[in-house]
Amino acid sequence: MKSQLTLEEKYDYYERAVQNPESEVLFMQDEFKRIYGHTPYTLREDFCGTGAISCKWVEQNKECEAWGIDLDPEPIGMGKTRHYSKLTKLQKERMRYLQENVLKTSAPKVDVVCAFNFSYWIFKNRKDLLKYFKYVRRSLNKQGVFFLDIFAGPESQKLITDTKKLNGLTYYWECQHFNPFTHDCTFAIHFRDKKGKKHENVFTYHWRMWMMPELRDILHEAGFSQTVVYWEGDDEDGNGNGEFKPAVDAENCDAWVSYIAALT
Ligand SMILES: C[S@@+](CC[C@H](N)C(=O)[O-])C[C@H]1O[C@@H](n2cnc3c(N)ncnc32)[C@H](O)[C@@H]1O
Repeated sequence: MKSQLTLEEKYDYYERAVQNPESEVLFMQDEFKRIYGHTPYTLREDFCGTGAISCKWVEQNKECEAWGIDLDPEPIGMGKTRHYSKLTKLQKERMRYLQENVLKTSAPKVDVVCAFNFSYWIFKNRKDLLKYFKYVRRSLNKQGVFFLDIFAGPESQKLITDTKKLNGLTYYWECQHFNPFTHDCTFAIHFRDKKGKKHENVFTYHWRMWMMPELRDILHEAGFSQTVVYWEGDDEDGNGNGEFKPAVDAENCDAWVSYIAALT
């Protein structure tokens, strides 16, 4: 059955449940500076959805510019209402939404490209993923970084639902299908609103779950000189504390999220 959520509710719930644009912008800025010793100014946000990250990017520094790329006019439209409209006139001049394919964009070369919330998992075979990574590599300035995220761990391949309670909202992340031969998988997001009504399959994703070593191999094959993996620290209860640090090994906990930085 079609969700009865309004578009405003759909994207409000999504962003509250899965996004933290402020900390992602800070993370990319800090890591870029640590790697190259200077500030990055230009960002291309691939698969940008509402472009929340691009809007934060231009907000935090008056020299910064961003291009948000997405094929779908729906999230772009919501992004204009929810984020872009809140920018100042000068910030707006430094942020553009491009309703384009990430494989062929009209954005210029940039310091940073990011692809978050596992969106590049739409590329299900090696040839297509390599083509995308090569395109990103060519889109970066001489000193550039491609940031992407990944989740894995033994629990992430089981047909189970992870539940998170937020203020007046429950978020469900369900693995509906996982093929161990191909890693083809289907994940869905459901919400229960504050009136107790459940909205099923508000977002569904048909992906290939890529593993860390394969991704690093393909990134190197695409021409990146080095890849850095960031692992999340623990809080007192043993849950993730939201702080990601470079690492070379870690405990393969039940389910984990990590970032990869691929350097030009
Ligand atoms: C999982 S959502 C991620 C949105 C956002 N990056 C986030 O972190 O929440 C994936 C987005 O990728 C877009 N998309 C899928 N294939 C694309 C392509 N080839 N080029 C551009 N955008 C694409 C979809 O329209 C969708 O908005």
